[in-house]
Amino acid sequence: MVSISLTPVALLDTKATAKAVILEQGFKAAALKEVTHLFPALSDLLKERMFTGSLLSSVIVPISKNGKSSYLIFIGMGKRNAQNKFAIESYRRVIGKLMRIMEELKVHSLALELPSPQLFDGPTGYLAGETAIMAHIASYHFDEFITEPDRKVIEDREIILVIGDHDKDEVQEGVKKGEIIATSVNKARHWIDLPPRILFPTDLAQKAERIAKEFKLKYTVFNEKEINQMGMGGLAAVSAGSDLDCQLVIMEYKTSKKNAPTLALVGKGITFDSGGLSIKPANHMETMKEDMSGAAAVIATMAALAQLKPDVNVVAVAPLAENLPSGKAIKPGDIVTFYNGKTAEIKNTDAEGRLILADALSYVVKHHKPDAIVDVATLTGACAYALGPFYCGMMSNHDDLVERLQESSDRSGDRVWRLPLTDDYKPAIRSIVADICNIGSPKYLAGAITAGLFLQNFVEDVPWAHLDIAGTAFDVPDLPYYRPHSATGFGVRLLVDLAMTWKK
Ligand code: BES
Ligand code: MN
Ligand code: ZN
Repeated sequence: MVSISLTPVALLDTKATAKAVILEQGFKAAALKEVTHLFPALSDLLKERMFTGSLLSSVIVPISKNGKSSYLIFIGMGKRNAQNKFAIESYRRVIGKLMRIMEELKVHSLALELPSPQLFDGPTGYLAGETAIMAHIASYHFDEFITEPDRKVIEDREIILVIGDHDKDEVQEGVKKGEIIATSVNKARHWIDLPPRILFPTDLAQKAERIAKEFKLKYTVFNEKEINQMGMGGLAAVSAGSDLDCQLVIMEYKTSKKNAPTLALVGKGITFDSGGLSIKPANHMETMKEDMSGAAAVIATMAALAQLKPDVNVVAVAPLAENLPSGKAIKPGDIVTFYNGKTAEIKNTDAEGRLILADALSYVVKHHKPDAIVDVATLTGACAYALGPFYCGMMSNHDDLVERLQESSDRSGDRVWRLPLTDDYKPAIRSIVADICNIGSPKYLAGAITAGLFLQNFVEDVPWAHLDIAGTAFDVPDLPYYRPHSATGFGVRLLVDLAMTWKK
């Protein structure tokens, strides 16, 4: 549990066990004034430790005041940019690093001053929100299966925000919004981190149902029998090798605004991807519990939106299945028919994500007439190779939607990078025996793009963007607010911002 409280008192007068001082690179001695008063040798000490304020560098000083011991943590913010501002992403990392330092020191309370928004691009509420989001996201840990007490991460933390002359209501509101968003991000991460023998398709559907109940969203689910009857040949085919029931989950948020547009979110939910009969090599299969990250992101986004209440209707669709080999599994050479009537030749059963998304996209186009669709999927290793762990691939048929997503990305910190989606690549997924083929011809390479083009067959003319999060969903290195071998919840912050800022 992380709790964030606001205080008007000065940093050093707070009751926190650790007090953080954020300093920019090349800071002036005056920046230390308040602290030097307590600790005259401070300037010399920081010099001796060669602390310049470079990004994420830190010096920890134990102090004792009125018989109570505590820590001063000096942490570097790095340099300002050409506009004399700090990047908000640097600040996120600083907060992340502070959460890690709390763990090392095993302290449960930390105080820091909310920086001036003039130093950043954005108002006070936004900065307060980002502070709250990062305190929660960086505190996330997945240690419920670790029994050794020494290896557990500290559970409860209190973050005391020194608000100075910031508007208290604005800060409070930002913190509250941030907590809702971060709680959703962490929900998604927890579901993704759960092992594949614990989280089956029906389990994720149940999590969605519980959220729908709690926050009063409309919830619909179809089981495998219904999915077959409805003609969703892609989802049924992928699930055929598994003994478990596949699911199609639909969650709906309705705004009270009249004549509001509808935004559709679609998330890939393969609770484990073995590759099927086109089985993956062992090292590629190791992390394939992450293959439901898109579904987790859209379901968790709905939890946040139900509380934040944007002025747009939002429908989330999550096709959920396991991709396993067996005597009943689909085979290379099979042909499937999707919900919209199109057919695809299956050449590789490991290209299963596009098959379940094809049905989900067709369904939402037909039944919800959305004004825009965003799908989120751990779709291709090719995308992970192209962009690595820091940017997801974005492909789209609509430049305005791309612009909105780019702005949401800039604000939220879930970073997107557009890839081309032109007809030049289309011949790559031509099939001789069906409408399209589920893998691209090797001649064309560009596996992320050919997967995107496959999906485009199922969105008609609806403005649509496809986010390939194969590289960004799990085990992202170096960012202090994430953890190794763990989920990031990528997409939740982005989609919440997109919905909250949606204008007609
Ligand atoms: N789930 C994988 C993609 C993936 C790779 C996600 C790495 C996360 C990390 C997807 O279903 C898959 O197997 N894609 C194949 C497609 C290929 C057979 C055309 C791939 O990328 O190799
Ligand atoms: Mn696969
Ligand atoms: Zn997959």
